Amino acid sequence: MKRVLGIVGSPRRGGNTDILVASILDGARAAGASTETVFLGGLTIRECDGCHACWRGAGCPKQDDMNGLYRAIAAADALVLGTPVYWYAPTALMKGFVDRLVFYNCDRNRGDVSGKRAAVVVPYEEDDPATAAPVVEFFARSLHYLEMELAGTAVVGGMARKGQVLEREDALQSAVELGRKLVDGGRLREGQFSTGME
Ligand SMILES: Cc1cc2nc3c(=O)[nH]c(=O)nc-3n(C[C@H](O)[C@H](O)[C@H](O)COP(=O)(O)O)c2cc1C
Repeated sequence: MKRVLGIVGSPRRGGNTDILVASILDGARAAGASTETVFLGGLTIRECDGCHACWRGAGCPKQDDMNGLYRAIAAADALVLGTPVYWYAPTALMKGFVDRLVFYNCDRNRGDVSGKRAAVVVPYEEDDPATAAPVVEFFARSLHYLEMELAGTAVVGGMARKGQVLEREDALQSAVELGRKLVDGGRLREGQFSTGME
């Protein structure tokens, strides 16, 4: 059975990021996967110091919740990474998490992520797709660098209120479909529901 790990980088449980990540995981389970969700806001993930001890096999000296996440990522077949746009960037929670993925930027650890698929979730308030573009680019380039495959994106604009995405049945359905394809390995159209405001 394939395993899909969802990582919610919004501090708000029940918010738009959480709902979209959950919808993707619903689709993954419908395709036969087991799923798990991690809320970065509930964890202690300290900033990367760039000491590169992880590259020398020493493990990360931070000894925080990222150590458990390294194990969860290694055990997963695919990831779902979600963050709202905060000031035209990912949240500090998500940025801090991705910084710590430098752990995989060495021969010793890269095999834990290379070849794995990931889906990206980015809700935001404005109605201009250019607002989310830097965040999608951040994920796309980072995943490519780690030799992972960006399998699809759920980028939804106009999300001003907590839980507002529940009113967007089209986005929720697309997210479920993305989850299915994340597991099935079907061909995915990048940005398949980068809808912005309609
Ligand atoms: C600190 C902060 C900064 C934000 N910056 C932006 C922004 O630059 N552009 C934008 O469109 N929305 C911005 N938003 C709105 C959120 O992206 C939007 O409400 C999103 O749907 C929240 O997702 P969540 O419910 O998962 O937390 C910001 C919200 C906060 C709290």
